Amino acid sequence: MSTTNSDRGAWGSRLGFILAAAGSAIGLGNIWRFPIETETHGGAAFVFVYLLCVLAIGVPVMIAELTVGRTTGSNPVGAFKRLAPKSLWKVVGALGVLTGMMILSAYAVVAGWILKYIWFSLTGALAGRTSDEIGAIFSAQSANGTQGLVLHLVFILLTTVVVAGGVHGGIEKASKWLMPVLLVLLVLLCLRSVTLPGASKGISFYLNPDFSKLNFAVIMGALGQAFFSLSLGMGAMITYGSYLSKKENLASAATIVCLMDTGIAILAGFMIFPALSSVGANAALGPALIFVVLPHIFNNIPLGQLFQALFFILVAIAALTSTISLLEVVVSYFIDEKRWSRKKAAWVMGGAAFVIGIPSTLSNGAVSSLTSFGFMNMVFTWFGEISLVVGALALCIFIAYKWGIRNALEEIRLGNPKFPMAAVWTFLIKFGCPLAIIAILLKAYILPAFSG
Ligand code: TRP
Repeated sequence: MSTTNSDRGAWGSRLGFILAAAGSAIGLGNIWRFPIETETHGGAAFVFVYLLCVLAIGVPVMIAELTVGRTTGSNPVGAFKRLAPKSLWKVVGALGVLTGMMILSAYAVVAGWILKYIWFSLTGALAGRTSDEIGAIFSAQSANGTQGLVLHLVFILLTTVVVAGGVHGGIEKASKWLMPVLLVLLVLLCLRSVTLPGASKGISFYLNPDFSKLNFAVIMGALGQAFFSLSLGMGAMITYGSYLSKKENLASAATIVCLMDTGIAILAGFMIFPALSSVGANAALGPALIFVVLPHIFNNIPLGQLFQALFFILVAIAALTSTISLLEVVVSYFIDEKRWSRKKAAWVMGGAAFVIGIPSTLSNGAVSSLTSFGFMNMVFTWFGEISLVVGALALCIFIAYKWGIRNALEEIRLGNPKFPMAAVWTFLIKFGCPLAIIAILLKAYILPAFSG
């Protein structure tokens, strides 16, 4: 079957785009991974560096991705091919497509746990339990391989159905009503969390920076988390930008999306850390963190199980709008470059994501060799962190020294004739972002590899 223009799709409205991009950004990265990263990297100082990374690197890189996407109207591989024909730059796009597939494969595992927690809430399995008991229940469910595979499959299926339906039918509709409800619920949970007994220790961990804890591992963690949470570094925003109209103000759209995403992450911290210190657990809980801490909050509010079910349903939908964007990158590549139909691309690649995700699913207690190897965490580190940072670095260098800042500015000005931040953006893309990224990569990974 050949492809038509309608197989590519386009956004219905400005709001539709902002909500879809925010839907891509807001997900498990905010609710699940941001608290884990903050915990392992020592609290408030990490949060401070994270905010710096979002502002100084995340926003300009998001503008850059949207610009490249809109100017080419193409997936990441096609975008590099169009702007730099017959060069090796398309490899950067291909790395992005691969990265999207790999992140999706691991992400759907955690999303599967969210589905299980909806079930726990409906059956009241966690009601009135101590946090030790809840921890044991979490471990038992994550170690159940068959169940893990079923949950993983269900989540991939949901993602595939939406992506197969196309940009209009699927992504926009799924995004439109979710965010406000999730926001209200988050605020309510924060209010409960900060008023729990013993909350103050967690609040100070989260808000009182101890800068002596800063080192390059912390900074790298913050940078990687910023890219992951904002869906940057692998072409998701190139793909979403490709469905945008020329009238759109890219700089303001990117800023709004970054602010919304960061706001939700900060709220998630306010929800988790006071409750964590209230539970009294200060051991590094890793992937289990929110799954142990959240039930504690719900056990301390009236109608807790009902709110818990509602909360996990909303988080599942937030995760779904993120997995949709991951699969969309891969699918748009096969539609544009391989001339597959949208349906074929979605189902074949959804199936591939499931198969690739099998070892990740089984690496949480089901198969001991995969567990001790830490397969899922490794996928998150290599693809959800390092690859994103490298991809963003390559994009900055590409714009600054191959395609040309002037061409990029021209594209941005189509929808934003003044673009008051042009000078700042130019400086950041040419020097600020690439130098910062190179320095952080060197210090965090490359130099230690030689000295260790
Ligand atoms: N940003 C999403 C989250 O926070 C995850 C995600 C979706 C993503 N698309 C992405 C991460 C593209 C990196 C790149 O949950």
